This record gives sequence, C-alpha cells and structure tokens, in this order.
Amino acid sequence: MCGIIGFSGSLEAADVLVTGLEQLEYRGYDSAGIAVQSKQGIQSVKAVGNVGALKEKLKEKVFHGSCGIGHTRWATHGGVSEVNAHPHQFGKITLIHNGIIENYKEIWEEYGAGKTLVSQTDTEIAALLFDKLYQGKPEETIKKAVSILEGSYAFCIIFEDIPDIVYCVRKVSPLVAARAKEGSFVASDVTALIAYTQDYFVLPEETILVLKQDTLYLEDLDGNQVEPEMLHVNWDTTAAQKNGYPHYMIKEIHEQAEALRNTILPRIKDNMPNFEAEQIPDSIFKGIDQIKIVACGTAMHAGMVGKVLLEKRVRIPVGVEIASEFRYQNPIINEKTLVIVISQSGETIDTLASLRLAKSKKAITLAIVNVKGSTIARESDYVLYTHAGPEIAVASTKAYTVQIAALVLLTMRMAYVSGMSDIEVIKKDYELLKLAEEAVHISLAKEEEIKELTNILKEKEDLFFIGRGIDYALSCEGSIKLKEISYIHSEAYAAGELKHGTISLITEGVPVIAIATQESVYAKMISNIREVRARGALVILITQEGVEVEPSIYNYHLTIPKLPDEFTPIPTAVLLQLIAYYTSVHRGLNVDQPRNLAKSVTVE
Ligand code: AGP
Repeated sequence: MCGIIGFSGSLEAADVLVTGLEQLEYRGYDSAGIAVQSKQGIQSVKAVGNVGALKEKLKEKVFHGSCGIGHTRWATHGGVSEVNAHPHQFGKITLIHNGIIENYKEIWEEYGAGKTLVSQTDTEIAALLFDKLYQGKPEETIKKAVSILEGSYAFCIIFEDIPDIVYCVRKVSPLVAARAKEGSFVASDVTALIAYTQDYFVLPEETILVLKQDTLYLEDLDGNQVEPEMLHVNWDTTAAQKNGYPHYMIKEIHEQAEALRNTILPRIKDNMPNFEAEQIPDSIFKGIDQIKIVACGTAMHAGMVGKVLLEKRVRIPVGVEIASEFRYQNPIINEKTLVIVISQSGETIDTLASLRLAKSKKAITLAIVNVKGSTIARESDYVLYTHAGPEIAVASTKAYTVQIAALVLLTMRMAYVSGMSDIEVIKKDYELLKLAEEAVHISLAKEEEIKELTNILKEKEDLFFIGRGIDYALSCEGSIKLKEISYIHSEAYAAGELKHGTISLITEGVPVIAIATQESVYAKMISNIREVRARGALVILITQEGVEVEPSIYNYHLTIPKLPDEFTPIPTAVLLQLIAYYTSVHRGLNVDQPRNLAKSVTVE
C-alpha cells in the first residue's frame, strides 16, 4: 500500500509530485522519492522517512522538468532504506510501483544474467524486465511485460529516450487519472488530483494509460483506444486537509455527524430506507438463507455490529468473516447467500479477493464502500456507498460509524421486505437512528473530560476492553483503535469469557474499559466489572445515562444518551475513538501515521 503519482504538463513536475505525495502519504510513509524528466535527462531524489524528509533533500537540488513520477512507500519487499525507496531505474527505465511481484525470482533467473541490482526490491527486478524487453516501443514493452509479471502492480514508467510522457499500467493495485488545464495526472487515489480537478477515471486493469503534456489516452493490450468511464468527486481540496485541527483523526472524529447525515438522508424516503437510487432491489433480500459479512480490521468490527442487528431483526444466520481467512477457507456459500463486503478504501486486497471468491460461488454480493469507483465497488453486484468524505487518518473513525449506519439501513429494509417488521416499526427505527446520530454531539462534548482522564493511560502497557453482545463488538473496535495509534497492548474480551483465562492478567492498576450499554445484559456486566475490580483493575465504565451504578466499581464513568440497545454503537464508538486519540496524543505519537501501518492494505 504505497502512494504513487505521475504528471506531464505545464507545471514544474517536482512541485506537483511533492504536493501530491503529501496527499498520498497516509498510504505509506517509510520513504519517498521523485524522478523528473527534462532536457538534461531523468533526475531522481529519494529519502528515508516521510515526504518532509524528501522535501529537505530537494532543497539541495535544482529540479526543472514538467514530467515526472513520485512515490511514498510502505515497505513490503526489501527493508526501509534509501536504496529501496522508489523510483527505481534500470537501463532506460525509471519507474515506481505499488504492489507485489510474486514471480520476481523467476524473472531474475530468466533475465538477470550478468546484471547487477542495487536494491533488495521486487520493483527493481520489474524495471530490469521492462528494460530487457524495451526495443523502442513502450506500449509493446508493457504488453510483453504484463504477460510475464505475476502479482499485483500499479506502475508509472518513464522511458529515458521518450520525453515528457508517463506510461501506466495496473493490476489489482489502484490508479486513477485525470486531465486538467495544467496537464495530465495519475495517482493512487483522487486525493492527489483534487487540487486540479474533481473529474477523474479509474484506470481499467491491464490497460495502458499514456500521459502526455497536452492529452492522455487509454489503450488496451491490443492497441485499441479505450474510452475512460468518468467519475466526479463532490468534495474539494479542503475536505482532504486538516482545516485547523492538529490531526486528521480528530478532524474526522468531529466530522461524524455530518458523515452520518450524508450517508443516511439520501437513502430515506417517507421516513423509510429506500435503495432505489442505488439500484439495490428488494428482490436480493428475498430467498437468501444466510448472510456473510466479510471485511478486515475496523470494517470487520462494523460487520460484527451488523451481525447483531441483522440476526435480531431479520432472523437470518449472519457470519462475520475475517477476509484474509475467508478467501482461503472454501466457504459454504451459494446463490442463496448474501455476501456483504465492507471496505472504506474499496481496495483492501483480502476483501477484494473474498469478493471475487463469493462471486465465483454465485453468491449475491453487496459492498459498503466509502471511495467512489474503487475496485471493490466496481466489482460488486450492488454498492451502498457511505458518504463520509475522504478519510486520511490511518485509524478509521467516521468510516466505521457510517458503515454501522449503512448496516442499520440495510437491516431496516430487510426487516421490512421480509415482513419481520411493519412500516410503523421501521419508521420508528429511523427516528432512533436520527437520535443515535444526534448523540454523536453529546459524546463529542465529553472530549475535554476524556482528554483529562486518558492521562492515566499514557504510562500503561496493557489494557483490556470488555463487553457483552454488541458491546463486545465495540470492545474489539476500541481495542484496535487504541493499539494502532498508542502502541499500548490491548485486548478485547467478551466479558463472560474473562474467567476462562484472561482474568489472570488483571492485577492492580491494569486498566479495563468496560462497555455496559446493553440493558439486556447490564446486570451480568456489573458482575464482571466487580470481578476485575476485586483484582485491582482501574475501571473506565461506559453506560447509558440514567442507570444506577455504585461508585465503588469504577474509577471513571462515561455515559451515552439513553437509546435502545441496538442504537448505542454510534455514540459509544465516538467515546472510544476519543480515548484512543488522546492516549496517543499524551504519548506524543504520530497519531495520523502510526508506525508500520498504512491506510489501505493493498498487498497480502
Ligand atoms: C482501522 O483503524 C485500520 N486502519 C484498519 O483496520 C482498516 O479498517 C482495515 O485495514 C480495513 O480497511 P478498509 O476499510 O479500507 O478495507
């Protein structure tokens, strides 16, 4: 999951590339580099670290040229080093790459005789292959190369003897492109293009994109011109900026009420969920006998909430599957299975592979995706887009709550279509969903209190989240949020499971975040909290407001407004996000770009 960008036009390429890489940095920030083509040939600069480190190095060099490529890396093949940073050059080829070349060894054995590599990357071997195949015709070279290359790739390639043109080709890894008055652009995602245009297209797989200063065009591997399918993004540059917030994450936490409104309202007609505009027919919900929700990380945790909602209201078996497991399990699914894939980026490789597997088994596939035109969105039978706007912070927040909202809407529609709920019940559900959305503001109003209480967590090294039912799903989400940005080891546990082992780890001062919003199991939760309290746990308790709680069982008590159990996740999630955020801030960490992580996992 790297960020790549290419440009050919009327501007200084170095400026365009660096600015674009700053927008793409959330995709990977181990190292960065650019290559610019000018009359003096191709000049490259690379630096370990984020784009800021590259900018420092660029101060030492004068770069003039209006064609170039840029890359910000999340290391997959080859460690973090300047020599492994992209762009890579071999012979007449200079290129950047996002993906993994699986047959790099075979390619090296076949074409590497007598050659010397300077890096430990598969990408340099790909550059060697292109150079070996190059006989003066770029398109022919690319066509031959893609017939040899195996794995995932998005390449931007400059040929030394062909000035001011960038050639691109992709398979699995994402690339979008656009034409603006300043020139022709290609990038991993639209956040790098939005400063120039809101109209773009997704580069079809195994199609060659030719980026020239005054035009761009697509051709398939048989040399036929391909018309791009244009898309329009309705947010502007500021949406992908911090706008005065210290971090993208806290900005995106505060954008949730708007993100929820933008996701819910367009799907409501006469106070009922309505998917006509999405062309999702009620027929797909009739006749199914099971649902599989497949995703990774936070998206999978949203799926866990969806399972509770759907099984309660629609009474169909729902399985939540980790995509990286599901894709290798030979799952028992068929044309009577609805497979819901959830992905903010729409590019997560394991979720995409699971989608393709589900389709191969004739299952009905529906995607809940935030990025318009993304691969998962385009390959699913049906798409229910979330409208959270760009989510830049690696830690997913607003995407999670709008995924839950999308699952609530689907649950309401399926309950109505299946006859499990009548129209009045569904209309009341909508009123409750609006209350849950408004409750976000009440949770956000606890920000200062949470900023203060999380001071007790900054020195901790182990922490537990416990909950029952839907609160167990929220515990899983709270745990990943905290882990990934504060580096505190944390575990989520079904509260009733603690006594089967983990409670041995609860000793004096060990923090336990106990989520007890579910009225149906509240008494059981209080018993579990007493058990950890008796062993010295430092308890941060989350309940609905108005419940009786003895002060002796907690150190801190946070509340959400009173709501029916199934509508509590959205305000609860905001509290957990704020806890993770301020714990990371207190520890002085890079909240938006945590170590080892990147925003979209587009490699296995
Ligand atoms: C969540 O905070 C993480 N960034 C990660 O778990 C993420 O949710 C996961 O990689 C799935 O990404 P996707 O939604 O883009 O598919």
